[in-house]
Amino acid sequence: QRLELELDSIEKGGYEHFMLKEIFEQPRSILDSMRGRLELESGHLNMAGFRAYEQKFVNAHRIIIVACGTSWHAGLVAEYLIEDLARIPVEVEYASEFRYRNPVISERDIVIAISQSGETADTLAALELAKSKGATIFGICNVVGSSIARATDAGAYTHAGPEIGVASTKAFTAQVTVLALLAMCIGQRRGTLSDTKLRELMVELHSIPTKVEKALKLDAEIQRISETFKDVPNFLYLGRGYNFPVALEGALKLKEISYIHAEGYPAAEMKHGPIALIDENMPVVVIATRDSSYEKVVSNIQEVKARKGRIIAVVTEGDTTIPAMAEFVVEVPYTSEVLVPLVSVIPLQLLSYHIAVMRGCNVDQPRNLAKSVTVE
Ligand code: AGP
Repeated sequence: QRLELELDSIEKGGYEHFMLKEIFEQPRSILDSMRGRLELESGHLNMAGFRAYEQKFVNAHRIIIVACGTSWHAGLVAEYLIEDLARIPVEVEYASEFRYRNPVISERDIVIAISQSGETADTLAALELAKSKGATIFGICNVVGSSIARATDAGAYTHAGPEIGVASTKAFTAQVTVLALLAMCIGQRRGTLSDTKLRELMVELHSIPTKVEKALKLDAEIQRISETFKDVPNFLYLGRGYNFPVALEGALKLKEISYIHAEGYPAAEMKHGPIALIDENMPVVVIATRDSSYEKVVSNIQEVKARKGRIIAVVTEGDTTIPAMAEFVVEVPYTSEVLVPLVSVIPLQLLSYHIAVMRGCNVDQPRNLAKSVTVE
């Protein structure tokens, strides 16, 4: 019994749960996912899987991303990245819907399947369908040699290391890292990304592990915030642009491990419905980092405040406007807008973790959930 406990604690690296260990591993797992691919000194990007299908990417009419859950959220970030940097239209599909919908696919399409486990049944079936219609299949998986990895034409592994906690954390940031590299490779080859901009992004991506390290220092502060909200029945998460998928991801994390009902929304959609839910009992997490939609998000915060919603804001270091409006503010380091999810998701992972622990939930193995969903 004692030996078992000790082994368990060694596996968790001294952390109380795998989830917390994996959250804290992110500076390392992000670095591992770009190692050998981003060479700052020579200014080169090396992605073997991309190189093999370079011409297909250059001439692609469309990129379709298929995934489930958190991997689908990483796919949404990729939609913004690829359209922004490489100017190819992107569609992001729930694998479970795509596979049963008789989708229009041709040989000029590239389908990117994203999966941590590489075993998700719906994602595998979706890519098999696309393959049968002649599309090129590119996989982004964490588990080496997994079914999805084996079924693709080419791909890139995320080097996040084993993820044990059912709630996906380091797999998400590793996926976004690889997808950012891929978008940069395509943009460079298609000539839609200038050398200066590419260089800027490479420098910025290279600095992300240090910034994530800094964001992790928010842990104690987030624990205090969690204490305030641990007993609420509902949460809203709002974000715009690159932070919209982060809002969805924050809400999913909270739902799955703390069993609190949470909704993620694009902040401007609030007025088309969810605003009716806001009163003095509704905590609203707003991801409001310094980017092109900042001013708009500030107005959204005002709308929430006017209805007495309780605002928890994730802002960029040094922000002086939002602290005057929000009940709680957590500051993350500045980074380029296109890479911001890698940093802004960190406090949301910590928030869900601490709330779940305080509610006595089984963080690493939440009820009704499996780490990989191998049935449809
Ligand atoms: C994430 O926290 C979930 N447990 C879940 O949504 C997961 O991301 C989804 O099942 C997809 O898994 P995959 O990445 O292994 O395909």
